[in-house]
Amino acid sequence: MARFCFPKCRLGRIMGWLQIVLGALVIFVSISTLFTFYSAGFFLHNEDICRHFYGGNDPLEVGFDVRALGARVEEVLEKMERLQDKLESTVQQMEKNKTQLFNEKISRMEQKRFLEEEVIRPLYAAHISLRQIRLPKVADGFGNSTIVEHPLINNFVIEEIRKYITPKENRAAKINIYGTEKIHNTIGHACVLMKKELEEYMEYEIGSYCKDDWNLAQKLMVHGCDPVPRRRCLTRASKLYLNPYLINESLWKIPDGRNVRWSNYQCRDFECLSSKNPRRGYSKCVGCFEMEKEKLKWMTNASLPIDVLIKDVLAIKPGVIRIGLDYGIGTGTFAARMREQNVTIISTALNLGAPFNEMIALRGLIPLYTTLNQRLPFFDNTMDIIHTSGFMDGWIDLLLLDYILFDWDRVLRPGGLLWIDRFFCNRKDLDDYMYMFLQFRYKKHKWAIAPKSKDEVYLSAVLEKPPRSL
Ligand SMILES: *[C@@H]1O[C@H](CO)[C@@H](O)[C@H](O)[C@H]1NC(C)=O
Ligand SMILES: *[C@@H]1O[C@H](CO)[C@@H](O)[C@H](O)[C@H]1NC(C)=O
Ligand SMILES: *[C@@H]1O[C@H](CO)[C@@H](O)[C@H](O)[C@H]1NC(C)=O
Ligand SMILES: *[C@@H]1O[C@H](CO)[C@@H](O)[C@H](O)[C@H]1NC(C)=O
Ligand SMILES: *[C@@H]1O[C@H](CO)[C@@H](O)[C@H](O)[C@H]1NC(C)=O
Repeated sequence: MARFCFPKCRLGRIMGWLQIVLGALVIFVSISTLFTFYSAGFFLHNEDICRHFYGGNDPLEVGFDVRALGARVEEVLEKMERLQDKLESTVQQMEKNKTQLFNEKISRMEQKRFLEEEVIRPLYAAHISLRQIRLPKVADGFGNSTIVEHPLINNFVIEEIRKYITPKENRAAKINIYGTEKIHNTIGHACVLMKKELEEYMEYEIGSYCKDDWNLAQKLMVHGCDPVPRRRCLTRASKLYLNPYLINESLWKIPDGRNVRWSNYQCRDFECLSSKNPRRGYSKCVGCFEMEKEKLKWMTNASLPIDVLIKDVLAIKPGVIRIGLDYGIGTGTFAARMREQNVTIISTALNLGAPFNEMIALRGLIPLYTTLNQRLPFFDNTMDIIHTSGFMDGWIDLLLLDYILFDWDRVLRPGGLLWIDRFFCNRKDLDDYMYMFLQFRYKKHKWAIAPKSKDEVYLSAVLEKPPRSL
């Protein structure tokens, strides 16, 4: 009996074991499922779940913002569909007028054939191929991701912006002159906040003429989208570009207005920018486009007792003030005067309602198109002088001013001069600002305060950066 029982009993035992194993497996699977659900965020709050599933939680881990990519493809598809519909409806119209077409001219018929064969067909093919794109390309292993998207990229839909931000790897896996494997094109982080404007700016046909939209670029810059991305379109110029005046005349002559594109200004020529014209379209540095007034600046004793003359400043350090920066709004007169003293000055300029950059360049001086947003593009301890006037007044935030002053301090060489020219602010704020300027313990060559109006005061100072050998 035992012989017969044995296989049966063994079977029973095996079944028992199997049940136990299966039971264990069920428990294990349940637990692991529970764990998966937990880690998938099913027990998290609603937003956490969303974030987890849309990959916004940790973009680097997921490597791809699927939702943004989906939106991008969706938009391209939509656009193509619209274009296709439009073209097709035109062709249908033409089909209706067939006889007329025959009677009219062969060229219309040709046109129809062209549209059908050369436009709609390739468009359709492109449409199909776009629909076939496999998405997304998630990395194939942990820590071995070949495609890690820059987190900023998926904020933008326009292809040209995405292409621009994507880091460019060196060819043939070489190391470049910087010792890096790729080049990162940069844009200001506030570009994300100005998405609509940036996308408008970056929508162009590669290789064709750009829109006349420098003012849009400037708007982006002053609102913190700085640097603005580069573009691959051809910038427009004035209809007729004449040679600038010869260098022995250009410094003190109003340039030829035909060398400026005026379409985005209120004025249409340099004469219109006169301070007498109430509709001149700009409010900073009024009178800067009148050479008789400009010629007096920093040369003769002005009405204000706080004014400093160029010759007095250069006399502090004879012969060793050679290069510098003029930080302000103007038409380059400070740089022109310094040039006459064989000092090379770069003048910052923004085209705030008038062509300041063009004016400076046409005078034969160097405009630096920059905003207050950015670190200066100069190396530490390099400049002999920094002059500032007419730009930062009592409006400026103290923390912002602090960052700017420390940057200037960085750029100035030991023994370099910081010339604060007609800084003005509210009388009650003067102590705060004075502290800002004095905190660096520069040597005071000139320090003068004078009333501007009932509530406002002027401050002018020439300060020298001390040696700093540590
Ligand atoms: C077709 O003919 C109608 C009337 O003659 C005209 O209004 C229409 O513009 C024509 N369409 C095209 C595409 O030429
Ligand atoms: C990815 O892994 C493969 C094999 O494990 C390796 O050969 C390859 O170099 C890795 N790629 C990167 C970018 O690390
Ligand atoms: C400028 O130089 C040119 C030739 O070099 C000369 O003909 C002209 O008279 C000069 N102009 C002035 C204002 O010196
Ligand atoms: C300018 O003022 C200083 C001192 O106030 C005086 O010594 C100098 O002669 C004046 N220069 C001119 C050109 O008026
Ligand atoms: C500037 O340099 C030129 C040429 O070296 C020289 O003739 C001139 O005197 C210099 N001007 C001044 C103000 O130093």
